[in-house]
Amino acid sequence: MKILVDGGHRLSGRVRVDGAKNAVLPILAASLLAEEPVTLRGVPALDDVLTIGGVLQGIGLDLEIDPGGNLRINPGTSRLQPTAPDDLVRRMRASFLILGPLLARLGEVRIALPGGCAIGSRPIDLHLKGLEALGAKLEHQHGCIRMQARGLVGTRIYLDFPSVGATENILMAAVLASGTTFIENAAEEPEVVDLANFLVALGARVHGAGSKVIRVDGVRRLKGTSYTVIPDRIEAGTFLIAGAITGGDVWVTNALPEHLKPTMAKLREAGCEVWEEEEGGVRVRAKGRPRSLDIKTLPYPGFPTDMQAQMMALCTLAEGTSIITETVFENRFMHVDELKRMGAQIQIQGHSAVVRGVPALYSASVTATDLRAGAALVLAGLAAEGRTEVGGLHHLDRGYVDLEGKLRALGAHIQRREEWHSPSAVPDLVGSPQ
Ligand code: EPZ
Repeated sequence: MKILVDGGHRLSGRVRVDGAKNAVLPILAASLLAEEPVTLRGVPALDDVLTIGGVLQGIGLDLEIDPGGNLRINPGTSRLQPTAPDDLVRRMRASFLILGPLLARLGEVRIALPGGCAIGSRPIDLHLKGLEALGAKLEHQHGCIRMQARGLVGTRIYLDFPSVGATENILMAAVLASGTTFIENAAEEPEVVDLANFLVALGARVHGAGSKVIRVDGVRRLKGTSYTVIPDRIEAGTFLIAGAITGGDVWVTNALPEHLKPTMAKLREAGCEVWEEEEGGVRVRAKGRPRSLDIKTLPYPGFPTDMQAQMMALCTLAEGTSIITETVFENRFMHVDELKRMGAQIQIQGHSAVVRGVPALYSASVTATDLRAGAALVLAGLAAEGRTEVGGLHHLDRGYVDLEGKLRALGAHIQRREEWHSPSAVPDLVGSPQ
């Protein structure tokens, strides 16, 4: 299966993004803490959501999702047990987010160590250190870990790095610990704030989420709630760049501007008009060839690492030379080689990529190596001359629901096709959608 895109078509119009993948995954894990029914709305139909749903069902949680994106969890008919299904945990690192809530609910967890992935080794030392500080005992068993705790006790925890996942795992464990916990040097991402808001809706006592210090006053039990997940700021940023890279005019109607400040600022620096629409959302209008940018990824509120590849695609066509420095992950330049196959001029120097802008990219057959690299290659294909084929779609489907359908609605000539072996068989993409 590949995505075929005929580049050179200006995108314009309105698009709605789905619920945030990186908010719904921890919120689903946190649903293990509820002792009454939970309803989540705005749940995106992503492969990663299905994977964590399988993990939760594997440990006995009764959950069901309807096609409308509503997910219902019924603790009354759930029979939780401490062992997570290894195959699903290995498939997706975020499964590790069940560690904190399950430890808080059952007092023990057995889970496979998450694998690394294309963008880095992805250690979990900060998760484990935080949970041990709350009183959990850790055992390593043949590629799995087992944690036990006869009641977690609140304490002060300092994170060496503001890890999103570690902040979330510790937060979810601390809400049922006895006493008060302070998480210092905590991650400030909007998805952490959304998790904290969900926990408060369940009856938890959490203060300071979105700042460097989160305070948690433990409670004995948590009730149920109905909750709507925030829109996905990375998906929104991806569509804004789609507008910019095609010289178009794109309005992401449900984007939250306060979550998009770094991306909006960089698009303005590149010479685009970017503004908050009266009726809501964020709109971009490109003004000719983009100007070059200097970008350094940082934990929130810095420029998000999850937007780095997409912004690099824009920079490959900029006037001048851009410097893009990745400080969050050790190996998040896998998209560079694929962009170079399309004529991009990029040199990697340590943690930085030097991107010398070219007047045009040309189409090629390229392969996604991770989720955001896939998005970057589709964006490059929208601007490249000719027909670009993007493979490795299983990466893309982890983080985007119907990316090509949403782009087609904005005027892109793009289709998802079975792999073709004879050029004569490939129909014109402008035809009716599949
Ligand atoms: C979350 O991953 C996101 N995933 C990632 O999104 C995102 O790129 C990342 O945060 C940074 O914003 C989800 O929320 C499901 P980290 P996470 O722990 O929690 C090191 C996407 O494209 N680290 O903040 O795994 C780690 O190696 C994905 O949607 C430790 O050293 O990120 C990395 O270099 C990709 N020890 C850095 O911290 C630890 O115990 C940031 O990792 C934990 C992390």
